[in-house]
Amino acid sequence: MLAFLGGTGPEGKGLALRLAAAGEPVIIGSRDAGRAATAAEELLQLAPGTNISGAENAQAATQADVVFLAFPYEGQRSTLEQLKDTLAGKVVVDVIAPMSFQRGRGASAVEVEAGSAAQEAQELLPDSLVVSAFQNISAEELQQPDTVMDGDVIVCSDHAEAKSLVMDLVSKIHSLRPVDGGGLANSKYVEQITPMLVNINRIYKIHAGIKIVGI
Ligand SMILES: NC(=O)c1ccc[n+]([C@@H]2O[C@H](COP(=O)([O-])OP(=O)(O)OC[C@H]3O[C@@H](n4cnc5c(N)ncnc54)[C@H](OP(=O)(O)O)[C@@H]3O)[C@@H](O)[C@H]2O)c1
Repeated sequence: MLAFLGGTGPEGKGLALRLAAAGEPVIIGSRDAGRAATAAEELLQLAPGTNISGAENAQAATQADVVFLAFPYEGQRSTLEQLKDTLAGKVVVDVIAPMSFQRGRGASAVEVEAGSAAQEAQELLPDSLVVSAFQNISAEELQQPDTVMDGDVIVCSDHAEAKSLVMDLVSKIHSLRPVDGGGLANSKYVEQITPMLVNINRIYKIHAGIKIVGI
């Protein structure tokens, strides 16, 4: 079972939709059980016959063995402090790209003391297997079931088996390619590409992604 904490937002919904369509049972998490149920119903209408349910974040995390963090960076510390014991022993996929927006300057990366959001998550969850992935994938396109995704997903972790499991999940989304990005310390570079993509999106009015050549 895959859980998406903050899965009522576009990124969590989009990833949940694509992975449910690939046959994975998914549960949408929210700080509010009613919002989670509504989001799950919306996704079921887009992907009838799939296994999608909704629950409050802690309950969703309890039911899953792979838990995606799909809420804004501002909520990371408090959410993980609350769920530390629940998430012990589980694979935790951090899709968070810490960003701020300033009028006239667009998006920029927020500095994280630990190095990156994913490293901070691993510090907060010493008994979980944190994997960083999906930060450079457009939520808009994920949410359109008929749009063929295009691009690479760089996956970083200090836990080889957990990284391999998440790379397999990436492969289940048609046309996305997993790229082994090495250890979690490299997540910083992946997270910081996202504000660049957001700024490119504004200039070209598109949903940009990345591709690594030469592999
Ligand atoms: N949007 C994209 O294209 C995109 C692409 C790549 C990566 N990401 C990353 O994916 C994450 C989610 O993106 P998003 O655009 O879906 O975000 P979002 O819409 O701003 O937030 C997603 C959900 O997180 C919950 N949430 C909001 N503030 C919270 C807090 N302080 N603490 C705990 N939960 C909170 C809310 O759900 P409830 O109120 O229901 O709990 C909200 O619906 C972000 O960290 C972003 O950097 C986004």
